[in-house]
Amino acid sequence: MTDRYCVFGNPIKHSKSPLIQAEFAHQVQQTIEYTAQEAPLDGFAGAWHAFVDAGGRGANVTVPFKGEAFALCDTLSHRARRAGAVNTLIVGGNGRTYGDNTDGVGLVRDLAYHRVALTGKRVLVVGAGGAVRGILEPLLAEQPCEVVVVNRTAAKAEQLASDFADLGNIQGGGFETVSGLFDVVINGTSASLSGDLPPLPDELFAANAWAYDMMYGSEPTVFLQWAGPRGAKLLDGLGMLVEQAAESFFLWRNVRPETAPVREMLRHSLEFDGI
Ligand code: ATR
Repeated sequence: MTDRYCVFGNPIKHSKSPLIQAEFAHQVQQTIEYTAQEAPLDGFAGAWHAFVDAGGRGANVTVPFKGEAFALCDTLSHRARRAGAVNTLIVGGNGRTYGDNTDGVGLVRDLAYHRVALTGKRVLVVGAGGAVRGILEPLLAEQPCEVVVVNRTAAKAEQLASDFADLGNIQGGGFETVSGLFDVVINGTSASLSGDLPPLPDELFAANAWAYDMMYGSEPTVFLQWAGPRGAKLLDGLGMLVEQAAESFFLWRNVRPETAPVREMLRHSLEFDGI
């Protein structure tokens, strides 16, 4: 029987994951089945166990189930434990569920792909929700000279900074605490979804700085539209999506696919669908 995988979310209709995983499998000449599954909002665990009972080997998990996926795992990777969230489920021996989180490594690999240096750099992370918690460990592992986390609700940024302080120089606060210039500014808020712009100072970007939005769409996000005229080089979250998917594929299939052709294919499909 063909090994079966899926992505769970709600909603899930517009997910690019089936397309990405099919391309990876084709590239490495493996046959897998990978579908999108909408789990009921109050029934994620049931949907996962039913999938495993029907022969499922693993899954990706997206909004809003990453916390529930974390809670149901029998074993967690170190990075999933730090992230407090799971985006990759693997069925291990005896049907036990192993959980990992590939989002953070996806971001760092995407930055590396674009030759964005992090080591010794000053990095601003905007937002302090689940998405940001997931990237801080891999980000700090690159040894930036300082990571500043700022958030509308300052207490959440302060909490994150204290939770990750053992891994490097990380500060947290409200938007009023932003000062000085940054080499990399990462928007990890969901503000882009509603077309909102986080309140950042005009003087923010150092020479040759990068602005990175973890969201993506057929048009640049409001954050990227704001950052461009202020001198930053721009990246959206499409590459992160592909890189986190490649890491999940690796965890399931033990082969690392190349991401460049899939990036290109996806960028075209995005322009075509307008999603
Ligand atoms: P996710 O899983 O995407 O991180 P989340 O945990 O709900 O979702 O976090 C959303 C993040 O976006 C938070 O940092 C939130 O700020 P608050 O903690 O103050 O709510 C931020 N956010 C959402 N809408 C925003 C807006 N319009 N302006 C600024 N920040 C916003």
